Amino acid sequence: MTSPHIFTVLAHDLKSPLNAVESYLEIMQNRIMGESLDPYMPILEKSIARLHQMRELITDVVVWSRIRDPSLSRELATQDVSKTARLILDRYRKGDMTRNITISDDIEDGITCKAGSGEIDLILGHLIDNAVKYNRNNGSVTVTVRKEGECLTIAVADTGIGMTAEEQSRLFQEFARMKNDKTRNIPGTGLGLAIVKGLIELYQGTIKVRSVPDRGTTISLTLLSDP
Ligand SMILES: Nc1ncnc2c1ncn2[C@@H]1O[C@H](COP(=O)(O)OP(=O)(O)OP(=O)(O)O)[C@@H](O)[C@H]1O
Ligand SMILES: [Mg+2]
Repeated sequence: MTSPHIFTVLAHDLKSPLNAVESYLEIMQNRIMGESLDPYMPILEKSIARLHQMRELITDVVVWSRIRDPSLSRELATQDVSKTARLILDRYRKGDMTRNITISDDIEDGITCKAGSGEIDLILGHLIDNAVKYNRNNGSVTVTVRKEGECLTIAVADTGIGMTAEEQSRLFQEFARMKNDKTRNIPGTGLGLAIVKGLIELYQGTIKVRSVPDRGTTISLTLLSDP
């Protein structure tokens, strides 16, 4: 049974970008910074970023509720995990360079598993997103994909802010976000890893975390590989 508290958190997380965008639009409506459009560009950029986050949150909520609905049938097909991982990493390599995070991989070719469409993207996407987001400047992220017997193993390691044992114990709960000085300015909703864990459980896989504060985190998972 879903706790009513979750809806309070969700409503808050949906309202806060709306409040922000509304107040930015009011600044423009009242021409607080003059008639020319240029001075408003930073707040337009902020508005777009907040709306983008909001859309990601809504997508995550839809995915999360689908995972939790046992009556939904899933169409499983062979997914190329190696290719998916490389595509996501390339996206990050071409993305924001300002933090100078080195992205490395050790990915065996042609590793596949049976999963629903887009689900491997979601799993790897959320893990890699966290490894970049909770990293430090000049840090590194390493993604490993290997076949081990009947299973495939995926590990996403970072050299970031890490977590205490207490924080790790809450990591996979819905809307769990670690609140401390290091995470204060990092945006997120706390659904990413709940989605990852929900998907891994659907496939009878395993997921585990190893983390040391200020040293980094490694999330490793196993899934049954395609024969
Ligand atoms: N690699 C990591 N290093 C340090 N802390 C992490 C890492 N991954 C997750 N966390 C902590 O666990 C929390 C939950 O992670 P999760 O991915 O579920 O949510 P999020 O990143 O906050 O938001 P979302 O993924 O929904 O945008 C994060 O807020 C962060 O505090
Ligand atoms: Mg996340």
